[in-house]
Amino acid sequence: MKIILGPSSKELAEKIAALTGYARVPVVSRVFPDGESYVRLEGSVQGEHVAIVHTTSKPQDSNIMLLAFVAAAAKRSGAKKVTAVVPYLAYARQDKVFLEGETVSIETVAAMLKVAGIDQLFTVNVHSEIALNEFPFLAKTLTAIPLLAEYFVKKGCAKAFALAPDKGAMYIAQQAQKILGGGAGSLEKQRDRHTGQTTQIGNHLDVKGKRVIIFDDIISTGGTIVGAAKILKEQGAEKIYTACVHGLLIGDAEKRIVDAGVEEIVATDSVPGKNSKVTLAPLLGQALRAL
Ligand code: R5P
Repeated sequence: MKIILGPSSKELAEKIAALTGYARVPVVSRVFPDGESYVRLEGSVQGEHVAIVHTTSKPQDSNIMLLAFVAAAAKRSGAKKVTAVVPYLAYARQDKVFLEGETVSIETVAAMLKVAGIDQLFTVNVHSEIALNEFPFLAKTLTAIPLLAEYFVKKGCAKAFALAPDKGAMYIAQQAQKILGGGAGSLEKQRDRHTGQTTQIGNHLDVKGKRVIIFDDIISTGGTIVGAAKILKEQGAEKIYTACVHGLLIGDAEKRIVDAGVEEIVATDSVPGKNSKVTLAPLLGQALRAL
């Protein structure tokens, strides 16, 4: 196998190549003055099974196009199999028609990637596993929650309470609880599909005087974490931290979270940024070695 260093995840791809010992294939990419993307593989992939490591976080649309172009370039250059390693899978939240007239965005993305030549895909903590059913090839999600929980254990936060900010993330809090060894619970979140406005409800949680880590798959605007931190404070939590797999952290999300009294934000390198304190390289390297 060879690792293609996708332009959006070059550092992570380098780490995976170093861990697995697989050869690296660099990619030259640039944007023409009119805004169109260009890619070229700098190495032979003839007859090889290649893994393209390339995330599809912001700018999502151009990153999806880049992934498709790199996959097509690999197939044209004779790769026998193309595995896409997409740590953050964009558009997975639009996995069904919520309101009449919408589309299932992830279905279109999946079809495009198939046409480009991708044969199988790995992602990490996809927002909804239903999204993966839209792929016309094997699409699998891995979980980075144990890696995030281990970060907190190393930091001296064993026995911290793992909180899911909504019921859908309860499986995440439970995975963290297994490593942390403390309690786990969840809030309830309701979303108005027209305005996008969310409301959070906290039932009686056993967090008084405790360190609490709010675990979620994605932090985008930070609104969910800010709302959860407010409820935790009202219920007497001693210290609040937050961990997510995909730290999109749009606009002033980080400031809003810190202002809400959260001590630390921890994310993975699925979306590279200053809070990417946990690397996915061991998780993804192991998955590739198992192929
Ligand atoms: C949604 O259900 C996700 O799991 C996250 O809770 C959500 O994407 C976070 O968004 P925001 O940071 O904008 O509240």
